[in-house]
Amino acid sequence: METTSARRLAELVGDLAGERPPRYAALAQRVRMLVADGRVPLGTRLPAERELAAALTLSRATVTAAYARLRDDGWATARQGAGTFAALPAGPHRGAWVPGPVDDGSIDMAHAAPSAPASVPAAFAAALAELPRHLPQHGYHPAGLPDLRARIAERYTARGLPTTPEQILVTAGALHGVATAFQTLVRRGQRLLTEQPTYPNALDAARASGVRILPTALDAAEPDAWLDAAERALRTVRPAAAYLMPDFHNPTGRLVDAAGRERLAAALRRAGTVAVVDETFAELWLDTPAPPPLASFGEGHVSVGSLSKTFWGGLRIGWVRAEAETVRHLTAVAVRSTMAGPVVEQLAACALLDGADAALGELRQQLRERRAVLLGELRSRLPAWRVREPAGGLVLWCGLPSPRSRALVAAAEGHGLRLAPGPLFGTGHALDDRLRLPYTHPPELLRAAVSLLARADADVEHGAAPPDGAPAPADPVV
Ligand SMILES: Cc1ncc(COP(=O)(O)O)c(C=O)c1O
Repeated sequence: METTSARRLAELVGDLAGERPPRYAALAQRVRMLVADGRVPLGTRLPAERELAAALTLSRATVTAAYARLRDDGWATARQGAGTFAALPAGPHRGAWVPGPVDDGSIDMAHAAPSAPASVPAAFAAALAELPRHLPQHGYHPAGLPDLRARIAERYTARGLPTTPEQILVTAGALHGVATAFQTLVRRGQRLLTEQPTYPNALDAARASGVRILPTALDAAEPDAWLDAAERALRTVRPAAAYLMPDFHNPTGRLVDAAGRERLAAALRRAGTVAVVDETFAELWLDTPAPPPLASFGEGHVSVGSLSKTFWGGLRIGWVRAEAETVRHLTAVAVRSTMAGPVVEQLAACALLDGADAALGELRQQLRERRAVLLGELRSRLPAWRVREPAGGLVLWCGLPSPRSRALVAAAEGHGLRLAPGPLFGTGHALDDRLRLPYTHPPELLRAAVSLLARADADVEHGAAPPDGAPAPADPVV
């Protein structure tokens, strides 16, 4: 087992005098940088708290708090009686990826989760006005409130996929829909084809179902290469299911055109593979609307949607669209854990969908401006990075000049900027040369974020930790 002495780690950490307080956070930040860039190799046992405190002339409580922060953030693990060991956050089996606190003054560029528009409180006011109509009944609707199922079905029909309310199951967000679909349609040990990269929590849900993941490499610059790879994998492996995002794929932004959907649907049909199609971003087209849903190109596929990105994640309203028979199976599985969704939120969702066309028009306009700001800032401040303009969705998938996204995450933390490392979006530890950046924030915050990102990139470029005595970074604008 590799260990590092207190003296050696203290040398690597250096002087913390010029760092922004609190001291324990600065110490944790330096250690993160050392783990991220490999100077403290993964699995190394960190020195005992008392010894490190003495070597750094800090109090033991400071070191204890720094180790606790490292453990909380996944940069260290504690083994009972054996000590504290360097680790990497967001490894392949780390579990679901959930937003951390957003009230600590940092800018959150890790999550692509927009704040709520004014239509959300208005929709809740409308929901409360409707509520008395429901109170005399028991309020349990296992597949969803009939009015909401009808509205969701109408939107599918308008998008080119004729749908009845019986074909809709309302869920507690898209992830609940995806997880329910995996539990219902794929058995333990069966194969699930995914794009690589993909949405991390779907990978986690698949693993939790005991499914074996079959990743297929996707580069938005070469969409046909992915189609070729997917066709090959479907032909040779015949996976039971596929988890796909043809509409503004998260994180690459790739859109599969109508001809590509034909090809994909044909390959799925030949392989007997059912697709679970995550359409969380489908309505967030920014240039031209997406083609009709993949399920309109082939029978039996399951579509999953959500109001989280079009309105607000805090609503926890999503859905699954499938054949009515499949919806009955999905409902039976969902009921085991949730019984039914909350009535008030579903009434609010009805009100939001009634005004969705106008609201989405405004949201798209806002996102176009923000996409342009983030792209422009990155191109001028970080010209060595490769960034493509996605035709929709909420994020840019940046190519870095070298594998450095983990080191960037660690460096950015010290500047008050929260990032998600590229490897989070894949299986294994690949994709360290990629970084996903959302353009969900207002322009001034995006500019502040890129300015902090450029500082973090300079730290990484010029040898990890910022030089001792460097001026403390300005407080981020939030
Ligand atoms: C592709 C994708 N699917 C599903 C989700 C989860 O959505 P929800 O909040 O509706 O569960 C997200 C959220 O980031 C996502 O990006």
